[in-house]
Amino acid sequence: MTLPVGIHDISFATTHYALDHAVLADRLGVDVDKFYLGIGQTHMSVAAADEDIVTIAAAAAKPILDRHGLDGVRTVLLATETGVDQSKAAGLYLHPLIGLPNAARVVELKQACYGGTAGLQFAAGLIARDPSQRVLVIAADIAKYELDTPGEPTQGAAAVAMLVSADPAILRLDDHSGLYSADIMDFWRPNYRTAAVVDGKTSVNAYQKATQEAWSDYRRGGGRDLTEFAAFCYHQPFTKMAYKAHRHLLESQGHNPESADIEAAIGHTAHYNRTVGNSYTASLYLGLAALLDHADDLTGLPLACISYGSGSVAEFFSGTVQPGYRTHLRTAANKAAIGSRAALGYERYRQLHEAVSPIDGKYHPVEAETARPFRLAAISGHKRIYESR
Ligand code: CAA
Repeated sequence: MTLPVGIHDISFATTHYALDHAVLADRLGVDVDKFYLGIGQTHMSVAAADEDIVTIAAAAAKPILDRHGLDGVRTVLLATETGVDQSKAAGLYLHPLIGLPNAARVVELKQACYGGTAGLQFAAGLIARDPSQRVLVIAADIAKYELDTPGEPTQGAAAVAMLVSADPAILRLDDHSGLYSADIMDFWRPNYRTAAVVDGKTSVNAYQKATQEAWSDYRRGGGRDLTEFAAFCYHQPFTKMAYKAHRHLLESQGHNPESADIEAAIGHTAHYNRTVGNSYTASLYLGLAALLDHADDLTGLPLACISYGSGSVAEFFSGTVQPGYRTHLRTAANKAAIGSRAALGYERYRQLHEAVSPIDGKYHPVEAETARPFRLAAISGHKRIYESR
């Protein structure tokens, strides 16, 4: 029998600020229902000046280490497409912040929004080789598009940390996984840019095609039938994308779903993403956390997970919710992370968006702004200096 491997714990963090899409709609002269209903977003998380993917990754991972300790953790995989350094892995900054073990490999993974799933699957492989090991997988991103562009309302920020282990308490991963990759320019960010370049309509079509292809590969490999799943957790660049992709997938397989069927399959997964916005690598896992936190008892039921990273790579994988999973969830903390964000005004939002990092190597202290447990305190000698509270 195959060793059961999967998600043993899952924890989420987001930024200090949230921008209401009503504020953005007002400034852009757009009907707010285009955002609330058309793309399915009410707010987006926005990083304060002293936050970045390291600070939110640390905030997501610390509760996991506090609960489980470090025993067996020999690998830390941090997936991001908004890294802070071209060479040094962002996970290494977590050592002093949350006390990672020294006897560990710490690596950063990148493939757009897909990187977190790469981390999860690599972790499962390492544990299959040595079941005494546990792997800390962190997906952390701050999505940024140019101001006054169609992508602007699909920004957001979050980090999800997962402890992956044998005999997992929350979700056991199935052996079958469907894959698809192709060279496509739908969304990318050259090294010299802080905001992504995106061809919005191409990206929506590419996402749907990749989902369908990954599903076909999953089925060819002997995966479950679409009708078996209790829910579908999609990557959610905006929550309506999950609804669109699911309808597209069902119709491509000859189904004729009612809106209520789609809502039943997706609805609970959208609770957090609707107000957090796109968190790239973290988005799918935020959807999973939202589903586990909001759905009726899912014990023993199979879930589908659909990961998409522009460029592009997609993976359709599945897992079974484990008995007793509810006692391991962090529902109150997840809701508090969202509920405790400070409302952001438009002027400060714009300042934060337009701010550029110093590049002269001098000492640049960063004024305290976030109320979160970790912050960027200064940039000095081209080094990022973090502090915890
Ligand atoms: N009331 C209700 N609905 C309204 C409305 C109103 N007043 N006004 C417009 N709408 C609806 C539209 O009908 C449309 O719905 P459908 O898609 O169901 O037709 C929806 O609101 C959006 O309207 P538009 O298509 O006109 O929106 P847009 O062109 O301004 O921008 C977007 C949409 C292209 C997705 C843009 O937000 C974008 O470029 N986002 C970034 C790219 C992205 O997120 N791509 C997703 C796939 S790629 C991926 O997943 C990787 C990743 O993370 C980036």
